[in-house]
Amino acid sequence: MVNRSATGKSGIRLAERLLSRAQAGPGKDILDIGCGRGVITRWVAREYAGRVIGVDTDCQELEIARLPDCEGNPRFIEADARHLPFEDRSMDVVLSFGVLHHIADWHNAVAEIGRVLRVGGRLVTAELVYPEWITGIDEKSSYKFGIYSLDTSKLTRLLQDDGFITLHQHIKKRVLWQDWEGIFEKKYEKAWSRY
Ligand SMILES: C[S@@+](CC[C@H](N)C(=O)[O-])C[C@H]1O[C@@H](n2cnc3c(N)ncnc32)[C@H](O)[C@@H]1O
Repeated sequence: MVNRSATGKSGIRLAERLLSRAQAGPGKDILDIGCGRGVITRWVAREYAGRVIGVDTDCQELEIARLPDCEGNPRFIEADARHLPFEDRSMDVVLSFGVLHHIADWHNAVAEIGRVLRVGGRLVTAELVYPEWITGIDEKSSYKFGIYSLDTSKLTRLLQDDGFITLHQHIKKRVLWQDWEGIFEKKYEKAWSRY
């Protein structure tokens, strides 16, 4: 369940709100990592009319994402967010909705985001932050959801090290987890590289 795409309208509403806040205009190169069934990707392709690509490691989800006749012709590629098959500085916007907390070594995905974004490009993200006692239970359970604790302060620091500034960040407490969202702009290319 937690590994499936956000259901329709709530995911789109979230993307719409954050993308309008990020002032992402039309005609951009937009990458949606962990796109799942492509609900958000297809909406973005329709609304933003640029080059829109969704990547995910789950080929069954991608099959569903590749619905025919989608306006804006988004492309869907099987790829891992930690090893993106794109050139350095080839994207204007990276979307990451509900994916980083499914990646144990999420810092590698963050490094890839920094690599593929152009200077002036933006990371638009919304993630779930689970406390360690929940991710610990998941780790030991036989029904593993594959959720990991996302340290958003560390994530923000990593982005800063990669030349990003924070444009927006908000965290909302839920009963068992926190909803975290952020918009980050890549201000400069690092002189040295850890890639
Ligand atoms: C909760 S779903 C979110 C889907 C979509 N972003 C949305 O909000 O509707 C998480 C997705 O991340 C994908 N995922 C998990 N680890 C990944 C990785 N290392 N690289 C790319 N996708 C990954 C899963 O296959 C799943 O489709």
